[in-house]
Amino acid sequence: MMFIRLSTFFLGVLATFFLGWAGLTLIPGIQIREIKPSSELKPYTDEQFSGRAIYIREGCIYCHSQQTRPEGFGADQLRNWGRPSVPGDYVYDKPHLLGTMRTGPDLFNIGARQPSEDWHLIHLYNPRALSPGSLMPPYPWLFKEEDEFSKEVHAAMGKKVVPVPKGFAPEGKVIIATQEALDLVAYLLSLNHTYPVE
Ligand code: HEC
Repeated sequence: MMFIRLSTFFLGVLATFFLGWAGLTLIPGIQIREIKPSSELKPYTDEQFSGRAIYIREGCIYCHSQQTRPEGFGADQLRNWGRPSVPGDYVYDKPHLLGTMRTGPDLFNIGARQPSEDWHLIHLYNPRALSPGSLMPPYPWLFKEEDEFSKEVHAAMGKKVVPVPKGFAPEGKVIIATQEALDLVAYLLSLNHTYPVE
């Protein structure tokens, strides 16, 4: 008698653990494996992928999300941040960079909203040069200060001169973007998920 009750008890315990495992691990795992990339989503190029690593290293995720929500969930649609994101938009993002904070705007479609490489470089060098009073920190270590030559000389040396507005760069110096800055901007410009989805 006692034996039967104990075994029923343990079966119950096992079933509880099994259901929990199936519901929280097995079924979501199968569902995630079935997700296909969205129709026009392209894998990252080497440059964009390096830029993504810098985005992670510099902690951009602490202030910026990459998830656009549907109408009725916050003001994302009113702010023109782009159509609601779908799982297929994230297949090449391992780990994903959804973010949890929105001290700054959502960046999931920043490549469509702000397609200018120069804008991004100036903004990273000093956000306040373009966005007065910005709370975003500057990232000067992604740039080099060099003595000023003519534009043609810098271009001939294969260097990207950042057109920082007067008063935001030291007198007589030009600001040169490092490869890291260029990669990061390539990544930002690739954030464009405005193509239609089913
Ligand atoms: C301390 C919080 C904070 C961090 C960290 C931060 N940002 Fe920002 N970011 C902001 C705020 C606030 C704004 C809005 C004001 C502005 O445009 O500068 C902003 C704006 C932006 C914009 C313009 C968005 C738009 O819709 O116009 C881009 C692009 C951007 N950030 C990229 C980055 C990148 C890349 C990094 C990491 C290298 C980063 N941010 C780190 C707070 C932050």
